[in-house]
Amino acid sequence: MDKIIRIALDGPSGSGKSTVAKKLSSKLNILYLDTGAMYRATALKALSLNIDTFDEEGVKTFIYDINLEIEYIDGTQHTYLDGEDVSERIREPHVSMAASNISSLKCVRLKMVEMQREIASKMSCVLDGRDIGSYVLPNADYKFYITASVDVRADRRFKELTLKGHKVNFEELKQEIEQRDYNDRTREFSPLVKAQDAIEIDTSFMNIEQVLGKVLSIIEK
Ligand code: DC
Repeated sequence: MDKIIRIALDGPSGSGKSTVAKKLSSKLNILYLDTGAMYRATALKALSLNIDTFDEEGVKTFIYDINLEIEYIDGTQHTYLDGEDVSERIREPHVSMAASNISSLKCVRLKMVEMQREIASKMSCVLDGRDIGSYVLPNADYKFYITASVDVRADRRFKELTLKGHKVNFEELKQEIEQRDYNDRTREFSPLVKAQDAIEIDTSFMNIEQVLGKVLSIIEK
């Protein structure tokens, strides 16, 4: 592929966007940046320092110099915090809510967006997140907004966590997803929103291959 293309995949937690983004990037042989991992690592940093994830003044004490790096090993994104590979730790359930909380802080978003734009300026890529099409890459070549009902998303998350050996309660998971949706949609600065020119795909009754096929058919048109 000669021309640099940028693809934005936004949507709420558990909509399937990261799985689609991963497969899409490998199919097109372009970079995949999971921007949620960056907010998760930032949350982990605050937790490790015992700083409340809503305490903007506290978060400001580390955010400008945060040692957060993204590397790719065999095409898989690895997230490093202070030199440690935290790719697994950032997936723990308590980090999900902390990431949603900390991502509402303007100082955090400005820092993350700066890093994301820097990475996306260099090569063709697919970024998944909440504000990619609306704020991070408003000129992206393709924008998709991936959704699914809350029940379907909670069910997917339940299966994923159970497979990893976590003991989780479906109702609690559902409530947590609703709370994260609420946080992500109502925060003041760059909330989760469908960009005006994004194509919406409801994945509630679709499997990953079907979603991927739909996205690819639009890109290849
Ligand atoms: O996609 P995820 O569940 O790993 O994201 C974790 C949190 O990070 C999510 O609750 C909202 C936040 N986030 C964000 O605000 N903007 C992004 N571009 C990506 C994630």
